[in-house]
Amino acid sequence: MTRRGIILAGGSGTRLHPLTASVSKQLLPIYDKPMIYYPLCTLLLAGISDILLITRPDDKRQFERLLGDGSQWGVTFSYASQVEPDGIADALLIGESFIDGAPSALILGDNIFFGAGLENLLSSATARTAGATVFSYAVKDPTAYGVISFGPDGRAAAIEEKPIAPQSHHAVTGLYFYDGRASEYAHSLRPSPRGELEITDLNRIYLENGELHAETMGRGYAWLDTGTQAALTDASQFVRIIEDRQGMKICCPEEIAWRKGFITTAQLRDLGRSIGSSGYGDYLVRITDEVG
Ligand code: DAU
Repeated sequence: MTRRGIILAGGSGTRLHPLTASVSKQLLPIYDKPMIYYPLCTLLLAGISDILLITRPDDKRQFERLLGDGSQWGVTFSYASQVEPDGIADALLIGESFIDGAPSALILGDNIFFGAGLENLLSSATARTAGATVFSYAVKDPTAYGVISFGPDGRAAAIEEKPIAPQSHHAVTGLYFYDGRASEYAHSLRPSPRGELEITDLNRIYLENGELHAETMGRGYAWLDTGTQAALTDASQFVRIIEDRQGMKICCPEEIAWRKGFITTAQLRDLGRSIGSSGYGDYLVRITDEVG
């Protein structure tokens, strides 16, 4: 069964200014493209082409207007709403019929990944059909995250949500790969003291079954989440600096769809022309010129 992808792009946006938070933050730009393009590209890079977007009910139409049914990029998008931010693991209940017992990948709509070797790391996770895969990333202050610690054998030993006294500095990123049992396990979860179905509790089930694979994203990767106003600006600056220097775009879904073979060179060129002579449209046309 092919792996299905879910992007969770709801939430309250409470750490943003109230005016900004009246628009879904995942529709705000990170430099030259909407934030949602970044997690979307991570799933495309993983080879996942059947994707469910979960949004706040009021935001659903705007996401549909931006992304459509995915056919323009040779992929399939479906949409569902989350009425209340009841937790990240809730995505596996909302998406249960979409997943339909297949392996899945869940990514948070505000997580950005970048780094050489990312595609290989993601492809290995996609290929693993038993158990769950999470990605750990060293951070200065792990208390704001799920935190994973490792035993002497290098295997995951414990996973905790926002610990006051973290046992390691390895945060768990907002990208999770599951086998076909994720929704079934999600049904057994109960709300945490903060009233949410915690993704960390789901991951702990896999850990206790000896089926949690924790891949390390080393220091050569960038993992940014964009939960605050300052983090939004930082992420925009990061993307601008790298793109300006390299002349290549970070997380351009049209380009990735093309490189993955979801669309042809002629389709990519048409997309570029239809966007027009913005830097973005020009870029799409220019990369098709590379292959003649
Ligand atoms: O970013 C990685 C971290 O994400 C993990 O290390 C943590 O284990 C995980 O719990 C989560 O922590 P956060 O505190 O960052 O989660 P937050 O509540 O900020 O939600 C992350 C994104 O998911 C945010 O864009 C809003 C969205 N969301 C969140 C919840 C709880 C939803 O769409 N629906 C929800 O019910």
